[in-house]
Amino acid sequence: MNIDFTFENPTRIHFGRTAMQHLPEELRLYGSNVLLVYGKNSIKASGLYDQVIAVLKETGKNVCELSGINSNPRYSQVLEGARLVRENHVDLILAVGGGSVIDCCKGISASAYCDGDAWEKYWMQGEAVSGRITPIGTILTMTGTASEMNSGAVITNEERKIKQGRVFPMGDLNPRFSILNPEFTYSVPRYQMVSGIFDIFSHLMEQYFGGDDDNVSDYLLEGDMRALISAARAALRDPHNYEARSNIMWCATMGLNKILAVSKKQDWEVHQIEHQLGAYTDCAHGIGLAIISVPYYRHIYRYGLHRFVRYARNIWDVDPTGKSDEQVALEGIDRLSDFIAELGIPQTLREVGATEEMLPLIAESANKIGGYHTPTTEEVLEILRACY
Ligand code: NZQ
Ligand code: ZN
Repeated sequence: MNIDFTFENPTRIHFGRTAMQHLPEELRLYGSNVLLVYGKNSIKASGLYDQVIAVLKETGKNVCELSGINSNPRYSQVLEGARLVRENHVDLILAVGGGSVIDCCKGISASAYCDGDAWEKYWMQGEAVSGRITPIGTILTMTGTASEMNSGAVITNEERKIKQGRVFPMGDLNPRFSILNPEFTYSVPRYQMVSGIFDIFSHLMEQYFGGDDDNVSDYLLEGDMRALISAARAALRDPHNYEARSNIMWCATMGLNKILAVSKKQDWEVHQIEHQLGAYTDCAHGIGLAIISVPYYRHIYRYGLHRFVRYARNIWDVDPTGKSDEQVALEGIDRLSDFIAELGIPQTLREVGATEEMLPLIAESANKIGGYHTPTTEEVLEILRACY
């Protein structure tokens, strides 16, 4: 553990089939005005909306609503929610949905009492939140991002064509509580389910690659990756397999609640490229990550050969006998590609709506951070062309 760290995570998790029973006791901790935020239709179709409204009524809350939050939530929706928070003197923002709804709520909380241009201050300049923060609680319906237990908020500024992630200081915008019932994810369409699964896998790889330390986090990341592969296969066979869906849900939350990142050098370049792909195509986040990952790792593995060999052996059980390190590393990346195909994820950018003209714009606008190697715009373009 070579890098010093401070770890804190203030989100209380209620997990399992009975998790909703904790909603009344959580709601009673806040004042009477609640902003309920959700997506387009799924929570009404599943009946969860009625269930939540009933609990809000029982606990005597005045409820205002913001619905229709897009996948890849938009800054205009953040501003609309911020207005509702101010006008209704909201005491708690309740997010019911996936990462997009939760991220939007964090944006709303940060922006409601911001003095000045919140986009510029928080997403462009990375400033600390200056105004009052309204607490957030979540009821998770789609698993992948871990937004339910972290302080990240990825928002798309549709006018500027920028999808920008912001990790707020730990604690500031973490949900105060999150309710995780794996059964709520049964109704997630298969395309979104595999998108979420690959998002989790990508979070684990982004944290695993980037340094050659040998610390506790590396072993925990390997365990989470192996658990996820096994649970993903079981959920593909039977989407109503509770054990599989609950394992995927917890792999996700653990995958980006920062516990596995302590003392780690990390990468996150695949996410930077995907965010701009999302800004141009509005594609599902995990699908975009899957398409970019294989050409990206084939491009950078030489800079971290030792770690890619370890990945091939410990995650994909590649047999190194008689092979060079380079062959083992590449075989590990091939296994990753096979896993993406097994999930039924598209393999090309065309299939998610990218056009050839978009590629230089995405390459130019993607943040270049890298781990083993910081790519240039030309290299990012090469990676994008390899999966176009
Ligand atoms: O809008 P509704 O009707 O609710 O439908 C949603 C949406 O179309 C649907 N859905 C959710 N729960 C469902 C369901 N459909 C049926 N049954 C259910 N139970 O699923 C679709 C996708 O939902 P969304 O919230 O967009 O997915 P996800 O959780 O993958 O979130 C993606 C967003 O999170 C960001 C991504 O960039 C993207 O904007 N991320 C946030 C991170 C964070 N806060 O730390 C980290 C991630 O790396 C990621 O960047
Ligand atoms: Zn992600």
